[in-house]
Amino acid sequence: MNEHIIEIKDLKKRYDEGKIAALNGLDLKIKKGEFVSIMGPSGSGKSTLLNMIGALDVADEGTIKVAGIDLMKTKDLSQFRSQEIGFVFQMHNLIPNLNVLENVEIPMFENNLNSKQMQERALELLKAVGLEDKIRQTPNKLSGGERQRVAIARALVNHPSIILADEPTGSLDSKTGDIILKLLRDLHEQENVTLVMVTHEPYVAKMADRIVYVRDGKVYEEDDKID
Ligand SMILES: Nc1ncnc2c1ncn2[C@@H]1O[C@H](COP(=O)(O)OP(=O)(O)O)[C@@H](O)[C@H]1O
Ligand SMILES: [Mg+2]
Repeated sequence: MNEHIIEIKDLKKRYDEGKIAALNGLDLKIKKGEFVSIMGPSGSGKSTLLNMIGALDVADEGTIKVAGIDLMKTKDLSQFRSQEIGFVFQMHNLIPNLNVLENVEIPMFENNLNSKQMQERALELLKAVGLEDKIRQTPNKLSGGERQRVAIARALVNHPSIILADEPTGSLDSKTGDIILKLLRDLHEQENVTLVMVTHEPYVAKMADRIVYVRDGKVYEEDDKID
């Protein structure tokens, strides 16, 4: 399938009253179902790019279409976000006084599901990430890798078309990080979701179908010849 789920053209975003050009005419197209790694130096605009794709922030100029929606023109960005996007951050952002099951159910409250349907879907994903025996625990009882697995289950629970992962293994040791990455890659296939992941590690980036290099707020190289 050649359909592009993400189409970005000449995207610009400035911060600090225009003094910082975080995105400086960035072009990028990503196909439906593709797994793309984003690499680049610190401060090059990787997180800003992910935030634009996920409509957490709005660009100044250019065009950005995601899942058929023109993000420069759409008013209801929160509906777009809850229907199309799952986020996995470096810090997992779980809610400390809710248990694992409840944390995973949160994104579903915007849908018209009853509590049984919500629980079934949450359990399905908690099984997929290997946490079915921890569903009544609170996040502080879990290891870092387990917390990130909860975050991944939560990101997938609404059947998003795109997962945006910003250095998802950045706070984990390398062995735990590898387990999380394999999990993300497997779920990307099973759930038929497009995966866009920022990473510092070349060997991690190589798990993707393609590596996109960002520098000074632009894509400067794309590598789709990964062995
Ligand atoms: N909310 C913000 N306010 C001000 N400056 C920001 C903000 N977000 C990012 N920046 C700046 O924009 C540039 C790109 O940042 P970022 O996208 O976070 O880079 P990366 O994720 O590649 O490290 C940096 O100079 C950063 O300081
Ligand atoms: Mg960043």
